[in-house]
Amino acid sequence: MTKYIGILTSGGDSPGLNAAIRGVGKACLGFYGTQIIGFRDGFRGLMENRIIRLDSGELSGILTTGGTILGTSRDKPHRMPIGGRILDMTDVIVENCHANHLDVLFCLGGGGTQKNALRLKEKGINVITLPKTIDNDVAMTDVTFGFDTALGIATDAIDRLHSTAHSHHRIIVVEIMGHRAGWLALGAGIAGGADVILIPELPYDVEKVAEAIRARSRGGKPFSIVAVAEGAISKQDFAALAQKKTAKHSKKGEEESPSAEIQYADNTLRLAKKLEALTGLEARITILGHLQRGGIPSATDRLLATRLGTACADLIHQGVYGVMVAARGDGTLPVPLEEVAGKSRVVPVDHPWIESARRVSTSLGD
Ligand code: F6P
Repeated sequence: MTKYIGILTSGGDSPGLNAAIRGVGKACLGFYGTQIIGFRDGFRGLMENRIIRLDSGELSGILTTGGTILGTSRDKPHRMPIGGRILDMTDVIVENCHANHLDVLFCLGGGGTQKNALRLKEKGINVITLPKTIDNDVAMTDVTFGFDTALGIATDAIDRLHSTAHSHHRIIVVEIMGHRAGWLALGAGIAGGADVILIPELPYDVEKVAEAIRARSRGGKPFSIVAVAEGAISKQDFAALAQKKTAKHSKKGEEESPSAEIQYADNTLRLAKKLEALTGLEARITILGHLQRGGIPSATDRLLATRLGTACADLIHQGVYGVMVAARGDGTLPVPLEEVAGKSRVVPVDHPWIESARRVSTSLGD
C-alpha cells in the first residue's frame, strides 16, 4: 500500500506544470487516499529537506496557472553548488527520501531531470517521471507539455511582427527558444507564416537567406520575417565550431563561455546585421525569451498534463517505478528511464513539418 509520494519540479519552468501537479495530486489524494509531499525548488529543496504538504487546498485553483507552485532549480543531485563549491549531495538526497518515508519520488522535468532521476534509481530510490519542457526535445514521448503554449505565444508574436515589418519595409529577426532543438521555431514559423525559418538541425547559409529576402523584394514584398531558433547556427560557424572541438579538447575548469542566453542574442544580432548589409533592407531583432514560458497554459497543455499526471498516479499505485510516463497517441506509455536518459529529440531533417514549410516557399537557409 503506497503511503507517501514525494514530488518535485526541476529544470526550466513550463506552462502545464501546475496542471500536472494537480492531476497527480488529486488522483493520489482523492482517488487513492495517498499523501503527497512536495519539495521546493527541485533537487535542491529535496537536499535541504524543504517540504510542503500538498493537500486539496494547495491543489485548488492551480490548473490554469503558469510556473510551478513548488518552485524549481537546475541543480543536480551529484553536482550541487554549495558555498562556491560543486558537491555531490546524492547520499543526502537518498537519506531525505528515507527520512520522509517516501514510497516513490515523482520528478517533473526535461532531459536533464530524466538523467538525474535515473541516477537516484541506481541508488535504490523508487522514481517515476514526467517529460516537461517548452522545447519538446525529450526523447521517447510524442510531445511534452509546455510546447503547445509556447507555440501559441511565439506564433502570436510573429503575427504581430508582420504588420510592423510590412509598414517599415524591414527584416524582423525573431529569436525563439528551444535550446538545441528547432521544434518551437519550426512550428511557430509555419503557423505564423514566417518567410525564413532557421533551426539548429539545418545549419544555414546566410547568403541563401539574403537571396530569399531579396527575391521577395523583387516580387514586390520588401519585408521579411525571419524566425530563428536560439540554437540555430550558420554553416560557417558550424564548421568553425567543429574544427575548434577537434583541435582543442575542452578541459575541466576551462573558462566558462558567455552564458548561452548572451551567446544566442549575439548570434541573432550578428545575423540581422549581416542580412541588413546583404539586402539593403533595415533589420530589427525581437528576442521572445521567457515570454514563451509564462502565463496561462493552453487547453491542450492542461489536457496533456492532466492525462500524464493521472496516468502517473495509476502507475505509482500499481508499483510501476523507474519509468518516464510518455505521451503516446491518445494514451500514455511507461518508458524505462534507461531508454530516455541522455537522449534528446531533435527535428529530423526530413520531418513532414520541414517538407510542409518548403512547399509554401519558406526558406530554411539551406
Ligand atoms: O529548456 C527550456 C528553456 O526555456 C530553453 O528553451 C532555454 O534555452 C532555457 O530554458 C533557458 O534557461 P533559463 O531559464 O535557465 O535561462
